[in-house]
Amino acid sequence: MSDARTVAPEEIDEERAADVALRPSRLDEFVGQSAVHEQVRILVEAAAHRGEALDHVLLYGPPGLGKTTLAQIIANEMGVHARLTSGPALEHQGMLASILTSLEDRDVFFIDEVHRLNRAVEEALYPAMEDLAFDFVAGKGAGAQTLRLSLKRFTVIAATTRAGALGGPLRDRFGVTFRLDFYAVDELVAIANRSARLLEVELDAAGAQLIASRARGTPRIVNRLLRRSRDYAQVRAAGHIDAAVAAAALDVLGIDSLGLDELDRRVVGVLCGSLRGHPVGVQTIAVSVQEDPDTIEDVVEPFLIRIGLLARTPRGRLATAAAYQHLGMAPPASAPGSAEPQAELFDS
Ligand SMILES: Nc1ncnc2c1ncn2[C@@H]1O[C@H](COP(=O)(O)OP(=O)(O)O)[C@@H](O)[C@H]1O
Ligand SMILES: [Mg+2]
Repeated sequence: MSDARTVAPEEIDEERAADVALRPSRLDEFVGQSAVHEQVRILVEAAAHRGEALDHVLLYGPPGLGKTTLAQIIANEMGVHARLTSGPALEHQGMLASILTSLEDRDVFFIDEVHRLNRAVEEALYPAMEDLAFDFVAGKGAGAQTLRLSLKRFTVIAATTRAGALGGPLRDRFGVTFRLDFYAVDELVAIANRSARLLEVELDAAGAQLIASRARGTPRIVNRLLRRSRDYAQVRAAGHIDAAVAAAALDVLGIDSLGLDELDRRVVGVLCGSLRGHPVGVQTIAVSVQEDPDTIEDVVEPFLIRIGLLARTPRGRLATAAAYQHLGMAPPASAPGSAEPQAELFDS
């Protein structure tokens, strides 16, 4: 999976367990995303006031920004159960039917990676979302009959890393769409401090600042870096995380001053190296670094664009002047963000 790339396989279970342990369960504990926060509060209160199920919600944004967390929080705030599944796990209509018929009134049905739903399941979902109906086809051939099953009121909360990968008919069935964006450093500091309290580890202000500023704008990564810093601190620093301990732990992980990890740097490296000055597509980048194109597009690219190392131009992706500078290289004049090629004026 795209999000596991910087994690050794044996660490994935630990990561999942930590996600659950550190996951806020109420809206008040959900840090940042103030626009989304406010809208969720209003939606939930309005639905509760009218005694209705919440409108169907679509959440999108890069991995680790809080989509699953927010879905769970919405269910908690509504005082209902959340049933969690994912697009690839819903293999056929029967599985969808069995979940839908088991939901209680106003429950949340969370579908992660909704862009990976198969066609048949997606089409069966439409009448469920719109008319609270599930159409069964009983029998085969000429004698086949369609039976319509009616469902209790429920809310689909769907998550995807890419809203663009959803078909229009599915997208249109969501009443609300929230885009989760990368977090600001001060928000990540707040998350680091909260997690440190839960993990019962001492984290000083400079340590929190350092971890937060190198976490790729991503809460899940803050928590990962905090846990690795804690390991380091327990072995080397009597359990106390300050800036020096955090820096040493991040060095071991290969996280650099901008928070780039090894794959980020490989991508920047080929864009400034063998692909220097050539606008390219995601496929070309993926082949060059031997990674899954989805990982490049969903995980690497959004962050590199966000911090200004990558530019999307009409002809393709290009490293910016800042990217070359980060690698200690002189940018070509054609790099976005580089100074005008003044020298040419004086050449002739
Ligand atoms: N706004 C937030 N405030 C505090 N912690 C957060 C927030 N968003 C995410 N997290 C932390 O990051 C982890 C990953 O978030 P998650 O909801 O699983 O991301 P996604 O589903 O978008 O990949 C959570 O377990 C939680 O500990
Ligand atoms: Mg998730």
